[in-house]
Amino acid sequence: MSTNNNEISTDGLTFLDDGEVLYNDLYLLSETDEKGIVQYASDSFLKLANMPTEEIVGEPHNIVRHPDMPRAAFKSLWDDVQSKGFWTGYVKNQRKGGGYYWVYATVLRSTDKSGITKYISIRVKPSREDIQRAIELYATLD
Ligand SMILES: Cc1cc2nc3c(=O)[nH]c(=O)nc-3n(C[C@H](O)[C@H](O)[C@H](O)COP(=O)(O)O)c2cc1C
Repeated sequence: MSTNNNEISTDGLTFLDDGEVLYNDLYLLSETDEKGIVQYASDSFLKLANMPTEEIVGEPHNIVRHPDMPRAAFKSLWDDVQSKGFWTGYVKNQRKGGGYYWVYATVLRSTDKSGITKYISIRVKPSREDIQRAIELYATLD
């Protein structure tokens, strides 16, 4: 653990004063069924969410939703994955116990041979400039 001005870093996470959590992991992965119920979350996702796997798997993915996120973003996510099979966008997620983190998510639809559909989200960390643009855009949306 190291401290530097208003930051505390531990286990690859950096906690900023305003609640934002920065991370070093390359990607955060989760999968849902076709209704958006979480079926799998990677260790990196669980670490950011600050939740054990049994508190996420089986729950709707909005369990990590941050109230600052506009409904329009998730409407476009669901419209796009259902019509085109993919969506990309910026998401601010809530961390259990307080705090939040930003991701750049790519959500994909995958249908297996028996016709069962699932959705996969792979998230990487956005740049500060991308986060700033997302904050400004989302402030204009419902
Ligand atoms: C594969 C997949 C991953 C998702 N990941 C997130 C996520 O990390 N954070 C989030 O708030 N919503 C995520 N969603 C969207 C949620 O299902 C949900 O639509 C959103 O949280 C808004 O909640 P609501 O639909 O109840 O309004 C994801 C959906 C899918 C299909």
